[in-house]
Amino acid sequence: MSKEKLIDMALNNKMHAEAGTMELADTIVEIPASNYFDKSRWQKEVDLIFKRIPLVLGVSNEIPNAGDYKSIDVLGVPVLILRNSNGQVKAYLNACIHRGAALVENGLGNKKRFSCPYHGWSYNEDGSLIGISSQQDFGDLDKNCKSLISLPILEKAGIIWVILNSNSNLDMEKFLSGYDKMLELFDLENWHVFSTRVVKGPNWKVAYDGYLDLYHLPVLHSETFGKNISNQANYYEWGPHQRVVSPLARISSSEKGGVVTPDLDVPVEDWPMDMLMAGVWTIFPNVSIASFRGGGRAVMLSQLMPGDNPEESFTTQYYLMEKKPTKEQEIEAKKQFDLLEYVVREEDYSTGLRLQKSLKTGMIDSVMFGKNEGGGQNFHGWVDKILKTKDKDLMSLFS
Ligand SMILES: [Fe+2]
Repeated sequence: MSKEKLIDMALNNKMHAEAGTMELADTIVEIPASNYFDKSRWQKEVDLIFKRIPLVLGVSNEIPNAGDYKSIDVLGVPVLILRNSNGQVKAYLNACIHRGAALVENGLGNKKRFSCPYHGWSYNEDGSLIGISSQQDFGDLDKNCKSLISLPILEKAGIIWVILNSNSNLDMEKFLSGYDKMLELFDLENWHVFSTRVVKGPNWKVAYDGYLDLYHLPVLHSETFGKNISNQANYYEWGPHQRVVSPLARISSSEKGGVVTPDLDVPVEDWPMDMLMAGVWTIFPNVSIASFRGGGRAVMLSQLMPGDNPEESFTTQYYLMEKKPTKEQEIEAKKQFDLLEYVVREEDYSTGLRLQKSLKTGMIDSVMFGKNEGGGQNFHGWVDKILKTKDKDLMSLFS
């Protein structure tokens, strides 16, 4: 079914490419400029979006084996993600139940059990408390009544989602709105994690807007990959998640020194899979996945996180490769990753940092998203909708 959907999209895109058209939104949408810098609004976004709905916190192949773990701080929440001996992923607050000390330093590792570095209490992969140091002196405590704080987690399509709220009972699959079936077509669970990097950027929505339109590509990126490419895009939605794709599919390629497009005389069904998966696959609220051919088939998965204030964000870039690269491919892959980091840092985010200064002057009332920028319209619409929705009604937004 999902492959059929992919073919349908490719046929629709091709039809637009041949006609020189794109699907347009009904109208131009204006949103208040203050949405990008107002501190209380930003705090609401952190609390009601980032701390309420599932967030992509990693990919399966960062922790492929039993005992592998990843420990990270996300918006002030220390999270420990691990793969247990049954191959399932689990997420816990990285905090000893005794007095809250972090069980492990941030990073990747492999452990069968976790021993708190403060007083030595220990936990197994299920988060169960299995050892209390000098319990005869500590006092009577039933170990079965205490365990690590568990966080909701879901692994689908080689991607790991976590909710930063131990009390949440949100249906994570429902939130994905069937989009995971599309993402499965990447087959990321079998892909190689080549490298990750972190780029500091502007307000998370200022930064994310740039992933949701192709309108800016031939202008802002004219010196890098954007020369002579179309600025049109079609948008396909699954709940709040959307794919942004040029009518004429294209993939940036270091091998060909530029951009590769399909031969439109070749039937769509015979296009290579990465061409069928071209464009930017965004995962609400803060992730994008885009295809490249740098050192072989690859994707850049970018995860944007708000920083400490409305004016900063941090983007973790994962360069994932279909196959483990050879030495030569490694050089190409690194070149492609360097270019992508450069483009994001020096073109997208430097533009974002300057534009948010202008917005913050308060002299611009609103910003606009044209009929050709439906991706941004959809995204900001969903942000507004989620901020307005009470916990009890949150689930009804997704189907
Ligand atoms: Fe850009």
